[in-house]
Amino acid sequence: MEWTSLNRLREMFFEFFQTKQHLKLGSFSLIPKKEETSLLLINSGMAPMKDWFLAKSTPPSRRVVTCQKCVRTVDLQNVGRTSRHGTFFEMLGNFSFGDYFKREAISFAWDFVTKILKMPTDRLYVTVFENDDESKLIWEKEQGLDPSHIFKLGKDDNFWEIGKGPCGPCTELYFDRGEQFGCKKETCGPGCDCDRFVEFWNLVFSQYCNDGNGNYEDLAQKNIDTGMGLERLACIVQGVNNLFEVDSIKKILLEAGRLAGVEYGQNEEVDVFLRIVTDHIRTSVFLISDGVLPSNEGRGYVLRRIIRRILTSSRAFKVRENFLSKLAEVVAEESSKAYPELIEKLDHVCQVLQFEQQSFGKILVNGQKLFHGLAEQLKASGRNEVDAQNAFKLCDTFGMPFDLLSDLAAQNGFEVDEAGFLELLNEQRERAKVDAASKNKAWKEKLNLSGVEFATDFVGYDELQCEGRLKLILVDGKQVECVTASDRLVGLIFDKTPFYAQGGGQVGDSGFILNSTGNKVAEIVDCKRLEGTLFCHEARVLEGVLKLGDVFKLEVDSKHRAAVSRNHTAAHILQQALINVLGAHVHQAGQLVDSEKLRFDFSHSKALSAVEIAQIEAEVNELILSCVEVRTKLMALDEAKKAGAKALFDEKYSQEVRVVEIGSFSKELCGGTHVKNSGELGLFKIVSETSVGTGVRRIEALTGRNSLSFCEELVKNCKVVCSQFKVENVAVACEKIAELKTKLKVADAEIEELKFKASEKLFEAALIKNFFKDVGLNFAAFSSELLSGKLLKSFGEHLIKTDENLVLLICSQVEGKMVFLVGCAKKAVDLGLKAANLVKILAEIVQSKGGGRPEIAMAGVKTKADLDIVRMNFEKVVANALKK
Ligand code: SER
Repeated sequence: MEWTSLNRLREMFFEFFQTKQHLKLGSFSLIPKKEETSLLLINSGMAPMKDWFLAKSTPPSRRVVTCQKCVRTVDLQNVGRTSRHGTFFEMLGNFSFGDYFKREAISFAWDFVTKILKMPTDRLYVTVFENDDESKLIWEKEQGLDPSHIFKLGKDDNFWEIGKGPCGPCTELYFDRGEQFGCKKETCGPGCDCDRFVEFWNLVFSQYCNDGNGNYEDLAQKNIDTGMGLERLACIVQGVNNLFEVDSIKKILLEAGRLAGVEYGQNEEVDVFLRIVTDHIRTSVFLISDGVLPSNEGRGYVLRRIIRRILTSSRAFKVRENFLSKLAEVVAEESSKAYPELIEKLDHVCQVLQFEQQSFGKILVNGQKLFHGLAEQLKASGRNEVDAQNAFKLCDTFGMPFDLLSDLAAQNGFEVDEAGFLELLNEQRERAKVDAASKNKAWKEKLNLSGVEFATDFVGYDELQCEGRLKLILVDGKQVECVTASDRLVGLIFDKTPFYAQGGGQVGDSGFILNSTGNKVAEIVDCKRLEGTLFCHEARVLEGVLKLGDVFKLEVDSKHRAAVSRNHTAAHILQQALINVLGAHVHQAGQLVDSEKLRFDFSHSKALSAVEIAQIEAEVNELILSCVEVRTKLMALDEAKKAGAKALFDEKYSQEVRVVEIGSFSKELCGGTHVKNSGELGLFKIVSETSVGTGVRRIEALTGRNSLSFCEELVKNCKVVCSQFKVENVAVACEKIAELKTKLKVADAEIEELKFKASEKLFEAALIKNFFKDVGLNFAAFSSELLSGKLLKSFGEHLIKTDENLVLLICSQVEGKMVFLVGCAKKAVDLGLKAANLVKILAEIVQSKGGGRPEIAMAGVKTKADLDIVRMNFEKVVANALKK
């Protein structure tokens, strides 16, 4: 067996199966298709192809070979601690959809490992399912395997299934690493827990479908699903002990060590850290380049946890701000040949990582502050344990990682009630599960669509009216025979409709249903898809009786539709303009188009500048002015991709897709409705640009009548402003405003000066020289209706600066706000008087609070009477303080 690189092994696998007439497909996205609700992330080669196994749709070829990116996070906590666990891996697989079966699958696998990879046969073992004599015979008689190398195992080992879906018995290939790795027990063999026999290739005879409750039905066709972990294969071929020593992966690990200034293999703590980083950065880079963004739920949360695990585990090491993005570059470089998207998306990936690193940095700093605050409270009450409630609050509400909390606690001599914390965490998870389950249940129970066997024919791309036969009426989720006029909304489903159903970020159409005499019998307020193929019109019945089987005229509100279509086309143009102005890292993260506006979310990590916004608007408007044609075409996905059409991340192969082309400016896969010519948009105007999460920005914009009204409104407001100033245009009005502002500043300063002067008079009248004779201090206490806020403070400061023997009280009441200020000049402070203390004592008398410096302090009070009380007590409080 020859040493072969990870990248070369992948190619060899493809080349071999291509000679066996397999169609090579690129890896599917890590994000499962929308319909796949049981899976958060793709975790095996077959997962994206379930429909082909179930014969629900036709594969592009009956023989397929792939290398699939996979993420499995069940063992997340073990990653780093062992040398085997990882969250990201690549799975090589050859698949047959109703084509070859056991015989060929076994023969291909054996030829690949013995003839291509030249693994020594004496070190190869296989296992078969206990009832599967057929496979055993094939191995023995057709491949000539030594019977002592064939083991029969039970369902746990040799029957492959994950929950619901295609499954079947399997046969597995094992490599014997040598006795020195074994447990030396007599029973040791393939399937043993020790490290001697490594299972590396699983050939599944996928012939059943599990309904999710353990009932197995025969599939319409017999399939083959094989899976071989590329990294594990590389370990065998490269003769290394663990996945972190495989060539490509080791490069990442060494770079992580270099960046953190540590060496691998010297110290367990460092090695754990390096293994976590190496595995997790691969997972993060692949996830982000497939469109996942860090968030607090679903896959976004998986990603966030993984990135945060890197960051928490690197706390003990000095890593710089670009640690993650530097490593991302190595990951992209190492895997770019097989996954060119890693290079295309690298800028975006680095931005997201950097952003997450920064924001987590803030959480850590904040978390430490919160912890110290809590620690003080606990200490004050004589406790030395962080209770479960507080631990949960810090971790769940403020995002502090639990291991950081326990570290901080240990450093400060506290314990953490971990068991209690875990209990609260579990309770929260259970609550979330119940919530989700009850939502799901309610939905299913509400809609009883059993026995419905037709699909609505949608004609709305070309027509806004058509005749349709009423096939289903839903009232509160139940099917009924007829409905009469009422205020409640009911669901109407026809065999044919021009109404667009909500989807792809576009709202459903509205309009009317007319009877044969042309009367409007129902108003349609929305249209939604049920079960994928039924268009359900949310309707308010206006008159008469609507009965199943009756034929009606369905009429879309053409104004509403036109406004929505304008916004949808604008969203496509906007996306291309964003790419042109901001860069190729921009991709769509969500959108909503309705008749009022378009809302477009996209990946970008900074707020847009005014210049960028202007450039984007200009690009879009230029295209509108050019009046380019908008065309839609149906084509095969591959063809569309080749033509450079933009698509979201949940692409499917072999399917016919609809491509919307706007001149030669933009090309996108889209099922929505559009205008026929860009000129119809009229005018495009961005009205807001905001952040909606880490690395995601949101633009809201208007077109058509809405942008026109927006501009009309602006003009109207400008006119109002101009008429106020009695000028011709806004530019002149702006000059006037600037002038006024300067004048106002001058006037304000003059007023302040006058207030100062008037206050000085009040002060002089109140001043009693040598009031505290024994210490030689002057005293003044007076009320003011002129001084407030900053002015009060600066006046107080001015007085104590001019008279260094002064003790001062000013009770201020301006515009209903009541505040008092105490000032202690230099000599008073030298004698031990502190304004802040005096204020505290006075404030307490009137149940208030205040503070400041030894020289100047202030407090607010609620009523005029409180101010009087303060004034009455001032002299006494000062005298008492002097006595001390
Ligand atoms: N589905 C099987 C596995 O994941 C073989 O591809 O192991």
